[in-house]
Amino acid sequence: MSSNLVSPLRLVVLISGNGSNLQAIIDEINSNNLPAEIVAVISNKADAYGLERAKKANIPQHFLSHLDYDDRKQYDLALQSLIDQFKPDLIILAGFMRILSDEFVEHYSHKMMNIHPSLLPKYKGLNTHQRVLDAGENEHGCSVHFVTAALDDGPVILQATVAVNENDNAETLAVKVHKQEHRIYPQAIRMFAENKI
Ligand code: GRF
Repeated sequence: MSSNLVSPLRLVVLISGNGSNLQAIIDEINSNNLPAEIVAVISNKADAYGLERAKKANIPQHFLSHLDYDDRKQYDLALQSLIDQFKPDLIILAGFMRILSDEFVEHYSHKMMNIHPSLLPKYKGLNTHQRVLDAGENEHGCSVHFVTAALDDGPVILQATVAVNENDNAETLAVKVHKQEHRIYPQAIRMFAENKI
């Protein structure tokens, strides 16, 4: 019997911490707003709360510690071989706090997305909220982009902007930016699934 059903996009999500972006993606899939399936969540940190979130959602979770490998190249090779067992269509970096080797990035060229808490190309790197405040900016935001070899670089897919008010601090800005991250990350994945990028 023929079917018009298109198989869902297979996602592998890499995390190191809280996993609130992972949760936003899980929620969108469960609400049938995102034609995707998370086939594995992988963390380099054993205590990443995102692993709990995956467990609660019945998603296979894996912990692969970078401390068990001699160098970045060895770790990235092991990570690549783990990821590829799941035959993903797209790799999602969601707070994965690792610099990636050029070989790893090249292997997933145009198949790996990241979310960064700034309006790229501004404020690459860490502590973006405080740096935005220190610079006296009146707007801030987040960006979903394809991953290329340079840190927090690569073609931007979607951005969202938030206003910086005079009573904002790094914590209030983080809350505002996170809210936008949870909106645009699933949206960018949907665009990829629908071949709209
Ligand atoms: C987010 O702020 C994201 O922009 C950055 O890492 C953080 C991850 O947060 N890349 P969470 O683990 O998804 O809550």
